[in-house]
Amino acid sequence: MTIVINMREGVDWEKIKIAARFIREGKLVAFPTETVYGLGADALNENAVKRIFEAKGRPPDNPLIIHIAEFDQVYELAREVPEKAKMLAEKFWPGPLTIVLPKGDKVPYATTGGLETVAIRMPAHEIALALIKTSKRPIAAPSANISGKPSPTLAEHVADDFYGRIECIIDGGETKIGVESTVIDLTTEPPMLLRPGGLPLEEIERVIGKIKIHPAVKGKPVKLAKAPGMKYKHYAPDAQVIVIEGERERVKEKINELIKRYKAQGMRVGVMATGDFYKADAYFNMGESEEEIARNLFKALRELDKSGVDVILAEGIEEKGLGLAVMNRLRKAAGYRVIKV
Ligand code: TXA
Ligand code: MG
Repeated sequence: MTIVINMREGVDWEKIKIAARFIREGKLVAFPTETVYGLGADALNENAVKRIFEAKGRPPDNPLIIHIAEFDQVYELAREVPEKAKMLAEKFWPGPLTIVLPKGDKVPYATTGGLETVAIRMPAHEIALALIKTSKRPIAAPSANISGKPSPTLAEHVADDFYGRIECIIDGGETKIGVESTVIDLTTEPPMLLRPGGLPLEEIERVIGKIKIHPAVKGKPVKLAKAPGMKYKHYAPDAQVIVIEGERERVKEKINELIKRYKAQGMRVGVMATGDFYKADAYFNMGESEEEIARNLFKALRELDKSGVDVILAEGIEEKGLGLAVMNRLRKAAGYRVIKV
């Protein structure tokens, strides 16, 4: 059975106690953060953590992020806390930044996917912080979606994937940022960006200097005809996503051309773009700013998918600020089917 707790109006401390008890009992609680919803369990309870992997269908070697509510919890989870970790925490926590540090002995390998490192973040969301504090546990939480599906930005998305399969969902309304946290590995020098996310890389570099970008971050754009196999699919709806990148007017022309072509083949076509009206079967207007586009990204993928389209054409955006995270997610959702015009 799944208890859904409505906290759209803010923290309800009596109800937080119920959810916190579930965490202490090794059960699963989905909760909102400022980025996306997380599927939480006691990070130090190996059996509880294993249930997260089972529920998501997540490969056991893909490590989880541990969520904390006070900086000092870092010392309980990490063996070493370098100066750069303190500088970043000071400036950006609570916030959409995850740091990777050497793993402390208390953290089970189930949580870190067998790695000697541990990923930690302090979320900027009053419900998440209340849950961590009240349960008195660090909480391991991946995004609360079935593995491979778009991350959830609404409690309804969580329910679509997990209703009846987890003990509790806390509904805190729509998440503010809409893409997951930025992940920085501080166990290497220079530090390495492992996943672009809700905190722009430029802002982090202003505090700790140059950061190397892991080659997987930008992926390899390939021509449609040379599209790689399904194994790279992630954040993926059932419909085939195709990203069209390039100068804005030419992108729009290309999208219109593709709509005609796919419709002539009897396919139903969805479009994710900014501003314009398209003669598609379904259209999601993503908004103008990088922030709006990031906030709408996963919702658009889920909604277009529900509308039953066969193909989703998505307009690319510039890779600056949150644009780096948006393009990383879009290209993955497309299985790297990218058309450059
Ligand atoms: O915004 C977020 O980060 C959300 C909310 C719920 O906090 N969580 C999230 O978790 O996105 P998840 O599990 O979907 O993504 C965690 C990412 C994965 O890319 C994982 O490989 C990486 O963090 N990660 C976790 N631990 C790591 C480690 N020790 N070393 C390298 N990467 C790690
Ligand atoms: Mg995820």
